[in-house]
Amino acid sequence: MNQKSIWVGTNWKMNKGPAEAIADARALAFFRPPEGVRCFLAPPATSLRDVGAVLQDSPLMVGAQNMYWEDNGAWTGEISAPMIAECGASIVVLGHSERRQHFGETDWTVNLKVRAALRHGLRPLICIGDTLDEYEFGVSQETLARQTKIALHGVSQEDLERVLVVYEPVWAIGSAGRPAEPAFVSQIHTTLRGVVKEIAMQGSSVRIPLLYGGSVSRGNIRDYVALPDVDGVLIGRAGWNPADFMDLVESVR
Ligand code: G3P
Repeated sequence: MNQKSIWVGTNWKMNKGPAEAIADARALAFFRPPEGVRCFLAPPATSLRDVGAVLQDSPLMVGAQNMYWEDNGAWTGEISAPMIAECGASIVVLGHSERRQHFGETDWTVNLKVRAALRHGLRPLICIGDTLDEYEFGVSQETLARQTKIALHGVSQEDLERVLVVYEPVWAIGSAGRPAEPAFVSQIHTTLRGVVKEIAMQGSSVRIPLLYGGSVSRGNIRDYVALPDVDGVLIGRAGWNPADFMDLVESVR
């Protein structure tokens, strides 16, 4: 049976100091996801190197949660793509709505970061999302198409093969959020599939993985991954505990 690959990742956000991060990475180090399921976790930058070392021989990939687009220089407080790659990251989460909302991230800065990540061999996981207002005014599709097109502007056909996109409705994230209805996610992802197909050259066989994120739980994960244009999920809270994360991963096959 020709099943699609499924991506399951967890974003630890600003949680877990190095001691806890190492202990949790050790708990995950011998985990073997079911065939066709590709897993990753995104610890805080302070634990990237340690978690990368613990998971060196594991199929679990490690991702950073952010980076700057210059390689080095007078950018106090920032970290760059070559730095996170050296720590063992192969993925970098870019443009998360928490960064757009609280740290002035824009479509333009996301594009600069995407291109810098690709230059250094990282897979950018581009977060796009509609606000509650946009959702209620019925302009989600326009917002998401704009964010995707700008994020991918100037990316070569070859590099597109390393890109991942995750749709995270801002209104569905976190404890105050509510999960998006699978039927709505399905509609959005079908539109997004069209948008990314348009960006890929005509006749290109590139299939950019399109993930969903926002209050994913053990109770709804299968509903999302069953959708034809959903290639995986990005989990927050429900995936922070290693045993829960493994259970969520097992549950998709
Ligand atoms: O990046 C994942 C995240 O924003 C979703 O968080 O806690 O709603 O699953 P959560």
